[in-house]
Amino acid sequence: MTNGLTGIVAGQTSISSTNNGHLIYAGYPIEQLAKMQPNFETTMFLLWHLRLPQETELTELQQQLTHNMVLPANYLALLKQICREPEAPMSQLRTAVSLLEIISPADLTAEAIQAKVLIVITAIIRLHRGQSILTPLAKADYATNLLYLVTGKRPQPRQQLIENQVLLVHADHEFNASTFTARVTASTATDTYSCLTAAIAALKGPLHGGANEKVGLMLEELTTNKRPPVLYLKEKLKQGEKIMGFGHRIYKKSDPREKLLKKYAKELAQQTNHLDWYQTSIEIERYMWAQKHLIPNVDFYSATIYHCLGFKADEFTLLFAASRCAGWLAHIKEQRQQATLIRPSSEYIGPRHLQMMTYEANQQAK
Ligand SMILES: CC(C)(COP(=O)(O)OP(=O)(O)OC[C@H]1O[C@@H](n2cnc3c(N)ncnc32)[C@H](O)[C@@H]1OP(=O)(O)O)[C@@H](O)C(=O)NCCC(=O)NCCS
Repeated sequence: MTNGLTGIVAGQTSISSTNNGHLIYAGYPIEQLAKMQPNFETTMFLLWHLRLPQETELTELQQQLTHNMVLPANYLALLKQICREPEAPMSQLRTAVSLLEIISPADLTAEAIQAKVLIVITAIIRLHRGQSILTPLAKADYATNLLYLVTGKRPQPRQQLIENQVLLVHADHEFNASTFTARVTASTATDTYSCLTAAIAALKGPLHGGANEKVGLMLEELTTNKRPPVLYLKEKLKQGEKIMGFGHRIYKKSDPREKLLKKYAKELAQQTNHLDWYQTSIEIERYMWAQKHLIPNVDFYSATIYHCLGFKADEFTLLFAASRCAGWLAHIKEQRQQATLIRPSSEYIGPRHLQMMTYEANQQAK
């Protein structure tokens, strides 16, 4: 028995792997993909088809995504009700994605669902900010529309590139908690919206995707109040608290996603006058390694990137979901093809009454 299935191979996948500290999407290490500077459509296509797209396929995918970035009026009315309070955006996303089933035909494609999830995420952010919901740009990639649909401004080319890289590194991660949740749900032969709703519920937790929001809040507190990070960390660790954005179940020496993101965090922090966030992060990283031998994970430097792009801490996990949705959709499809119910066994450690012991003795005697 291991705690939390550590080290247990729970199934097979062709979509991604984390062998020897590397993250590989369908045969391509993420570092190699990052060098190609792909837009997120390329990453999506790779996860869904296990090969890189041709130019025409890429254009077609982009068109399908933009075409599907619309929500019917009756759905929007419900969404506005759900988002009346500017709180708990991930809970609102979970409910909003669940509601998509009611307004969407059962046979919506992965492209259409991915597009609808993006428009829902950006709508939640706009509604919280008291702003109207925008229409996507027709000739723009997913990353551009993500930023445009929130800010109302076409991003600078460098911001677009960085957002594409952020989306790339968050897209998939083999059997992480939310993806495994999506796969367990898909294995019961239920619908895609139910699988995504379950995945969002898992991603929301602070030990998984919700960590990026906590990192944002920590950095906000430290930089606003000019608190020395070391004193803060000492206090938290003394109280037995975990420092969010540190540690990983699989990566113990370094997280390949964090390595890619760190340089963009520095670049954006310099450009946008938020070097205090970056410098505080560096101090935290040094202390955590010196004291605990813990490494920053994907959620650590992504927080500074999102902050510099103008997002608030409680919006960070929504941005994670806008990317990971592509991975979930790939795994849901693969799980359906495997057509096996995921149903492990457990070791019983509960009370043993006399009746139970008598029953077991009788069984053994047979
Ligand atoms: C991600 C995480 C759940 C991985 O956990 P894991 O491999 O199961 O490791 P454990 O939680 O069992 O931790 C092992 C030890 O390291 C400590 N530890 C792990 N992460 C820590 C953190 N972020 N801060 C402080 N201590 C931490 C644990 O307290 C534990 O110490 P102990 O052996 O003295 O009890 C864990 O590192 C964590 O909770 N990190 C913070 C949340 C986070 O950033 N999540 C995003 C992951 S991408």
